[in-house]
Amino acid sequence: MHTLIWVVVPYACLAVFVAGHVWRWRHDQFGWTTHTSQILENRLLRLGSPLFHLGAFGVIAGHAMGLLIPESLTAAIGVDEHTYHLVSVSGGVVTGVMLVAGLALLIARRFVSGRIRRVTTTMDKVLYVALTAMVVLGMSGTVVINLFGEGYNYRETISVWFRGVFWFRPDPALMADAPLVFQLHAIGGFLFLALWPFTRLVHVWSAPLAYLWRPYVVYRGRRTPAPAPQPAPAALRVVEPATPDTTAPRSAEPATTVKS
Ligand code: HEM
Repeated sequence: MHTLIWVVVPYACLAVFVAGHVWRWRHDQFGWTTHTSQILENRLLRLGSPLFHLGAFGVIAGHAMGLLIPESLTAAIGVDEHTYHLVSVSGGVVTGVMLVAGLALLIARRFVSGRIRRVTTTMDKVLYVALTAMVVLGMSGTVVINLFGEGYNYRETISVWFRGVFWFRPDPALMADAPLVFQLHAIGGFLFLALWPFTRLVHVWSAPLAYLWRPYVVYRGRRTPAPAPQPAPAALRVVEPATPDTTAPRSAEPATTVKS
């Protein structure tokens, strides 16, 4: 049973993740988009979307730090378990709260606006349920166990098992004694990956990252002189007396010039 959950399921999910993206690209390139509904409602989106995305970037960075960097490496550079725990819990709580608030706003938006509700697909609903489950489980681990509870050093078990999946040496025994919320969250993470290619999450791979490195667009001034201004209509002309030309012969009337 342990082998099925901690070895077979992760690989099956990763296979679906890869094959699903190939299938989606071949069959639904025009649907490969965020399916933005900004035009239908923008008030809640303007707050919910940046909160959700900033929170998600923070949570992803936290997962990369906690799951991919071995405890021995952070210890070697002088970061003890207590310091690591402080950084990971405080960072996890801040980014997790942003993610929860953003997700709540995005979900509320689907209920509040009838127009948004009408364009919400079944896969959107499945995605929101999956996201909520993952976020609730993750936050329970961070807040209930690691912030207020007795604490659980997942870097000695979950992280080692997680890296083992990608080295083709997953050890199911490492997950046997993990708290239930962490077990559900970890296996849920792989199921979430299997769902990914069939949802609007595929837009993540089309983020316009090249924009950050593209060469500057150079704007140049005109080489040719600007065209001479057209004379103003007679009614708008300003008539002012000219400086008297002392060299010219004097006449009875003062000379005038027209400023155009
Ligand atoms: C196999 C994949 C995953 C594993 C092994 C994993 C593992 C963990 C662990 C160990 C924590 C606790 C961190 C701490 O207390 O410092 C955590 C927290 C969390 N996880 Fe995951 N996770 C995975 C995937 C995901 C996914 C796909 C999502 C969201 C869709 C997610 C969302 C969260 C959130 C919101 C938290 C709480 C905030 C934080 O500590 O970063 N996780 N996860």
